[in-house]
Amino acid sequence: MFLLLFYLSLSQVNSVLSTGGVLQVDYPDVSVNAPDNGNITLQGGRGGGSVLFTPGPGRVVYFEDVDLLELLMMIRSLPPVWIEHSSVGFYGTFYGGDRVNVKLEAQDPEGGNLTYEVVAGALPAGVTVDKIRGVITGIAPDEEALYVVTIRAIDPHEKFADAVYTMETHEKNQCVPYPCVNGGLCTNAFNDFNCSCSAQYGGKRCEIACLANPLGVGNRAIIPDAHMTAFLTQEPGDFWSNNGRLGMSGNGWCGKSNLAWLQIDLGAPSRVYAVSVQGRSTSYYTRTYSLSHSLTGSTFTTLQTPATNTTKIFTANPSTVDVKVTLPAMIDARFIRFHPLTYASAAYPCMKVEVYGCKP
Ligand SMILES: *[C@@H]1O[C@H](CO)[C@@H](O)[C@H](O)[C@H]1NC(C)=O
Ligand SMILES: *[C@@H]1O[C@H](CO)[C@@H](O)[C@H](O)[C@H]1NC(C)=O
Ligand SMILES: *[C@@H]1O[C@H](CO)[C@@H](O)[C@H](O)[C@H]1NC(C)=O
Ligand SMILES: *[C@@H]1O[C@H](CO)[C@@H](O)[C@H](O)[C@H]1NC(C)=O
Repeated sequence: MFLLLFYLSLSQVNSVLSTGGVLQVDYPDVSVNAPDNGNITLQGGRGGGSVLFTPGPGRVVYFEDVDLLELLMMIRSLPPVWIEHSSVGFYGTFYGGDRVNVKLEAQDPEGGNLTYEVVAGALPAGVTVDKIRGVITGIAPDEEALYVVTIRAIDPHEKFADAVYTMETHEKNQCVPYPCVNGGLCTNAFNDFNCSCSAQYGGKRCEIACLANPLGVGNRAIIPDAHMTAFLTQEPGDFWSNNGRLGMSGNGWCGKSNLAWLQIDLGAPSRVYAVSVQGRSTSYYTRTYSLSHSLTGSTFTTLQTPATNTTKIFTANPSTVDVKVTLPAMIDARFIRFHPLTYASAAYPCMKVEVYGCKP
């Protein structure tokens, strides 16, 4: 026999009732303590009597600092359930550059918030799982590939359910819809297309007719003054190389003699198809001229007549009318020099010029 001690740790027991065979102790807080080495035994009646703990609404029952009700809820909690789960799992097909936005649809039967994580496999670079929002987001890679991942939905009680997601990615055919015009040939590139233009067309989509496309001598914003240089400029007077722009006011560039030249740096290797030359007045003009060209700016090649391999001589108008001439063949050049050959015998050669073609 041992002594069971009830310390009702209060100064006074509010009421101890014995009603209908039930002993009921009512007081705001009741603590039951056993002495050192003592045990507390709660035991229902032998014929099926119960031991009941009845916390007030929203309160807790502790067992060795563990919230028993919470523990029971955890044990009873059901794992999450994926919606629309099929035998092949979830399947998505994306093309390079597509925005991926797949909602992960699992639900917690208890209505708790779920978190998600990838537990097997890997998503493509640039595509991630947003753990909290429950979405697969990112930009699909531009490649032919298959990604299989297992995604776990986890409820607040650490119960989980897995689902397999399969993501098929395809390289996007950037040539659809067909981007090239004027007979350009399209090739598919990474996240881009490449138009190979037929002769005399240029630009990203071959939309530029090179023969009619000024390369910018008439526009300081495209070819700055520093890109216009000359040899043997006529002095004194405002005849500097940067005046030699067709379509702009001023005297144009004037050279001292037929040894002088005007050079245009197009800024990048370009396909050149035609040039224009205009005189300054009926006294100061260039009657005939030749061209030389270079990719590097150091070695220049004189443009020749293909049939004879002699210097090609172009004729301009002896006044202020500009004359555009098409070159015998397209030339690849970054630097173009205009060499005046003949002009009014009592004067010196003057010109304003433009170059037509396409940048690469
Ligand atoms: C308390 O219970 C344990 C386990 O049943 C027992 O071994 C121990 O002897 C008991 N202590 C007392 C003081 O009865
Ligand atoms: C679930 O998440 C929502 C939004 O973040 C939040 O407002 C709510 O309190 C959360 N519910 C639980 C049970 O954590
Ligand atoms: C486009 O094609 C040209 C010629 O084949 C090549 O030099 C260039 O690198 C290509 N550009 C791209 C973006 O693929
Ligand atoms: C012109 O020069 C090219 C290259 O040097 C040569 O193949 C061609 O036969 C020459 N033509 C004439 C008419 O001399």
